[in-house]
Amino acid sequence: MTIQSKSLSEATLSPNSALFTHDTVLLNETVAAVLPDQKSSTNEGVYVDATFGRGGHSRLLLNKLSDDARLLVVDKDVEAIAVANELAKHDGRVTVIHDSFANLPSSLSEHGITQVDGVLADLGVSSPQLDDGSRGFSFMRDGAVDMRMDTSRGIPVSEWLEQVDDSTLADVLYEFGEERHSRRIARAIKQMDSYDSTLELAEVIKQAHPNWQKGKHPATQSFQAMRIFINNELGDVDTFLDNTLTLLKPKGRLAVISFHSLEDRRIKQFLQRHSRGQYPEDEQLPMPPKRPKYFAKPKRIAPSKAEVANNPRSRSAWLRTAVRTDVPFKVF
Ligand SMILES: C[S@@+](CC[C@H](N)C(=O)[O-])C[C@H]1O[C@@H](n2cnc3c(N)ncnc32)[C@H](O)[C@@H]1O
Repeated sequence: MTIQSKSLSEATLSPNSALFTHDTVLLNETVAAVLPDQKSSTNEGVYVDATFGRGGHSRLLLNKLSDDARLLVVDKDVEAIAVANELAKHDGRVTVIHDSFANLPSSLSEHGITQVDGVLADLGVSSPQLDDGSRGFSFMRDGAVDMRMDTSRGIPVSEWLEQVDDSTLADVLYEFGEERHSRRIARAIKQMDSYDSTLELAEVIKQAHPNWQKGKHPATQSFQAMRIFINNELGDVDTFLDNTLTLLKPKGRLAVISFHSLEDRRIKQFLQRHSRGQYPEDEQLPMPPKRPKYFAKPKRIAPSKAEVANNPRSRSAWLRTAVRTDVPFKVF
């Protein structure tokens, strides 16, 4: 059990971190997609939970993996990593990696692993990140305007807001939040004297927003945009997906849960491209006469009504699953 972190010791855990829990979304469906054979004695491979969070998916996977299997758990978040380290203390199959899942090839190779049997990712933020106001993700709870998943690296949103110009800020709100009133909101944000409070920022956005929708806080899309931007969420997802082409063994399985259309569209298009036989540009294989398909029969699964009733945060989740074919390794 190893911890990889450039500056984990410098990062501080929130004093409230132990108070917050996470209801795992699409738990059985995701684990079944990665491990179709549910008999633990036969599941000996190497698996990755790319977004450990509080370990809901990991714990069920571990129940279904044999004693010889390995599970590498990854998260950017210092508090998630603290929970993962506790799990690893009691289960020798677990290896903990504090890094972005965009760096999976290099983080896995540090553990002597080049290919794996299954990868799951449950994208976005965890409930503890949202519910702990001091993390700055929520427009409903007061705290510093931080929004970093990895508080040991990068700059908080407050610092970025000090530096950014109106026009770049508006572009971010539009691109990552699909906020149609981005210019007006960006101007209002840039007129603020300081960015010390999420509630103050949310109030300024609310006042600048001309078109409030029933049941939705007017700052929802702007907060989403700033969070996605500061954490490079879409860039990380693209790199992660591309890496699965070489990381997954033939017949290896991929399961990705997303919570908004910007992510889901990318996953869908990636799987479609590689299920129709697009050849990765950097693959040094002789071009076969027939183009290989990397994924067989991708599927999209939504949470059941019962799950949404039980955990309303699951309502926007989509699980996309795919099985890596062995075609690229065959000579046609
Ligand atoms: C929805 S939660 C996962 C919850 C988890 N499946 C569970 O059952 O507890 C998403 C987690 O992914 C992490 N995360 C998001 N983007 C990441 C990235 N690029 N690299 C590593 N971790 C990331 C977040 O810090 C968060 O802890």
